[in-house]
Amino acid sequence: MEQTLKGKHIVLGITGGIAAYKSAYLLRLLIKAGAEVQVVITPNGKEFITPATLAALSGKPVVSEFFAANTGEWHSHVDLGLWSDLMVIAPATASTIGKMVSGVADNMLVTTYLSAKSHVMVAPAMDLDMWAHPSTQRNIATLMADGVEIIQPGSGELASHLTGKGRMEEPEEILRRVEAFFKKKESLSGKHVVVTAGPTYENIDPVRFIGNYSSGKMGFAIAEEAAARGARVTLIAGPVALQTSHPAIERIDVRSAREMLHQAENAFADCDIAILSAAVADYAPAECADSKIKREKTDGMTLQLVKNPDIAATLGKEKGSRILVGFALETDHEMENAARKLINKNLDMIVVNSLQNPLAGFNKDTNQVTLIKADNTSKAFPAKTKREVAADILDEIEKLK
Ligand code: PMT
Repeated sequence: MEQTLKGKHIVLGITGGIAAYKSAYLLRLLIKAGAEVQVVITPNGKEFITPATLAALSGKPVVSEFFAANTGEWHSHVDLGLWSDLMVIAPATASTIGKMVSGVADNMLVTTYLSAKSHVMVAPAMDLDMWAHPSTQRNIATLMADGVEIIQPGSGELASHLTGKGRMEEPEEILRRVEAFFKKKESLSGKHVVVTAGPTYENIDPVRFIGNYSSGKMGFAIAEEAAARGARVTLIAGPVALQTSHPAIERIDVRSAREMLHQAENAFADCDIAILSAAVADYAPAECADSKIKREKTDGMTLQLVKNPDIAATLGKEKGSRILVGFALETDHEMENAARKLINKNLDMIVVNSLQNPLAGFNKDTNQVTLIKADNTSKAFPAKTKREVAADILDEIEKLK
């Protein structure tokens, strides 16, 4: 068997479901593909498969308790979380999924999940009614929004002898997803990606500004996904409440369109790809008052606005061989308006999202986009989490390279 996972550190989480018997085979496949695997099993998981079997297959003692039985030695979930290049939880019961969503760290597996810096894949397994329950579906949606990759269960006969959706995906398919993850992980290695995200704020006086509703979620998802694929990322963020932790992301906080332009031009000089998802204010007050404008002084006021620089168009003029991708947020005539922006700003691709779509746009966890390329071809995608949309955008960019 080809050593596709040589040198990779994988934490395999096993929870208490009948599909745990398949985890032994998955473990064997991962080991045969060259991975180093540390099994972490919940107390209920041990009722379905013995730690002795898993230790023999992985060549490592299985971790289950916070403290080793004989020596009292503490098992460090933090060390495990840092060691892992990928965490795969298969099978994942409804209970473990619920604990992951809520951060209930009452066993080694969930504690390791909360400490993991790596990507996490979850292969749920449960009875059809449990899977279909709104609570489970809500939890799955939350995990996806948290960036967890869900390996959807299949349909067929279940342990209850009922037939329906809830069977854990087959070990061969989980192995394929693991291999695909590591292949993708290096796809942008050596590349410098610049991402703009969030709104810009244009000051009126020391307490007021012109801004918009952008949360930065879309841009941060793109930055995280590019970093996960091995890129060095410069994330130029307007005022947002989000955090980033990936070591390959250098975050530069800005406030106004002019500050964003300045940082974008700096970073653009040595970048390979720039993705402009920020909602940049098109206008700024002609002057910013030095002190708070007093309500008593006038019955009304007219604010004089001046046009802000167009960051995308400015970079478009200096593009050279770089790949430049913009966004278009539209309320009507989406495709025509976006296609015009693509040409006017000299972009290689534009990501169209519509404010008419309740699953798209500002501050949502999902987005629904159509990608239009400079050769006038387009591709429409269904609504997905912003992290998945980021993956679709980067997949298409990689085809342009
Ligand atoms: O941040 P979220 O809450 O997750 O929301 C995501 C989003 C809706 C902000 C995002 O998906 C999006 O659509 N971003 C672009 C919004 C926008 O300003 O679109 P636009 O059609 O006005 O601008 C077109 C392109 O030119 C964009 O790439 C924009 O970054 C860029 N632009 C616009 C004006 C300007 N002065 N300079 C620019 O660079």
